Amino acid sequence: MKIILTKRTGFCFGVKRTVTMAEAALKKNKSVCSFGSIIHNRQVVKGLSRRGLKVIINKDNIRTKAVVISSHGLSPKVTDYISEKGRTIIDTTCPFVLNAQRIARSLGESGYTCVIVGDREHPEVKALVGFLSCRVYVVKDKKEAGSIRVKPSEKVGIISQTTQSTENFLDVVKKVLGKGPRELRIFNTICRDVVERQEAARHLARTVDVMVVIGGKDSANTRRLYEVCKKISDRAYLVETENGLENRWFKNARVIGITSGASTPDWIVERVANKIKGQNRNRK
Ligand code: F3S
Repeated sequence: MKIILTKRTGFCFGVKRTVTMAEAALKKNKSVCSFGSIIHNRQVVKGLSRRGLKVIINKDNIRTKAVVISSHGLSPKVTDYISEKGRTIIDTTCPFVLNAQRIARSLGESGYTCVIVGDREHPEVKALVGFLSCRVYVVKDKKEAGSIRVKPSEKVGIISQTTQSTENFLDVVKKVLGKGPRELRIFNTICRDVVERQEAARHLARTVDVMVVIGGKDSANTRRLYEVCKKISDRAYLVETENGLENRWFKNARVIGITSGASTPDWIVERVANKIKGQNRNRK
């Protein structure tokens, strides 16, 4: 059995930066809290929690001096609230997410209606909405975009959650364009890392017998990767760790492909690859 990894596995630049900043904050401060998971990987967050990171959901539950803002960003209203409380903010928002926030703010200030292509429950999108002072629609696909009402006099700007697929983004753009706005500004804010991971996974899934996608089940970019692979192969599987692997998936498989979401650390990728190799050895 041969195992092939896509070129891009392990943390992306933004996640690596977030984890490094959180680790530094934990060294410097007695206790630190974060709003929600700083990244969407339970194993990494658990490791940081053991070192003192407290994950909170409600801003009224801040009990620590230092507060980490996750890679997904935070609405300016909440950030201002934390500042007013005199807490130290460690802002680990990914620079690519910051770029989308800047665009959102400027569209709102210039009188555009804003369409965000993404998942309205995702923390990145919730934060992004907080930067908009205008009419805003969050749509997950072209079907939802179909129900947007656009007046002929309206100026519309479209941005994307950083982890969307280009295909889905363009489908929404076409749909909105068809509604005839006076002006349409399109900002492709999809992260390059996400695009390249999807392309590499698509390419590999075509050439292997089984494709394994590794990542947190609540990680948007991991889910997208899995969808991309599943479209190509019936034998594509999603696991969080090596414990999710099932022997039967690999029956008669000669070549196994592996890819990972942007918030999956190298050590989990390695463990998954080793377990697959081990299972194969036992079968001989
Ligand atoms: Fe940032 Fe892209 Fe990673 S937006 S957090 S570099 S997936």
